[in-house]
Amino acid sequence: MSNLIAPSILAADFANLQRDIEMVNNSDADWFHIDIMDGVFVPNISFGMPVLKSISKHAKKTIDVHLMIVDPDRYIQTFADLGSNILTVHYEACTHLHRTIQAIKAAGMKAGVAINPHTPIAVLEDIIIDLDLVCLMSVNPGFGGQSFIENTYKKIQQLKNLIDFTKSSCLIEIDGGVTNQNANKLIEVGANVLVAGSYVFSAKNPTETIAELKKLIN
Ligand code: DX5
Ligand code: ZN
Repeated sequence: MSNLIAPSILAADFANLQRDIEMVNNSDADWFHIDIMDGVFVPNISFGMPVLKSISKHAKKTIDVHLMIVDPDRYIQTFADLGSNILTVHYEACTHLHRTIQAIKAAGMKAGVAINPHTPIAVLEDIIIDLDLVCLMSVNPGFGGQSFIENTYKKIQQLKNLIDFTKSSCLIEIDGGVTNQNANKLIEVGANVLVAGSYVFSAKNPTETIAELKKLIN
């Protein structure tokens, strides 16, 4: 499988959202990465269901939803109904993670778990086999445009070893501070999906920037 680019819509121009969605549709990008923040789990509020509904109407690629919210179980069916293809919850926000993952799958979506920069890979040992995706946060969640945390490389290697050892088919997604400076190395150590927000949307030519990233990692 080729390695994937998932532009984060958090960095799009919300007053020109349809334009930016079409840009992603017509680019070499693979997924739409959608960041939902509740102002409780993370110190920021992004956008919610009505905006996701509008995005889904126009998006022609996989919709990868990253929930940065407490008690995500309350909204699993809602996110399925809104067109999410992959639903990722935070390890740190789920008391009964196994149950949450099963509920995501029962609702017809692929299931992901995100872990914060300080959370060790070892906590995934007994859930990895059930996951379609692990999202390693390479910044502290809550904001776009932060700098990449270097310790992520080590965690990718550890996660890759765990995936190989357990024969899990789960993908490794990296979220935060991805640029053309680190993309290649991230893939080399084991990542499969790179989320890129500000690097893509603050570029003069986002379509070209996506194409360059995609080429860099394949
Ligand atoms: C951070 C979000 C990221 C963010 C990435 O909490 O989960 O998806 O949008 O943005 P950049 O690529 O600007 O770090
Ligand atoms: Zn994200």
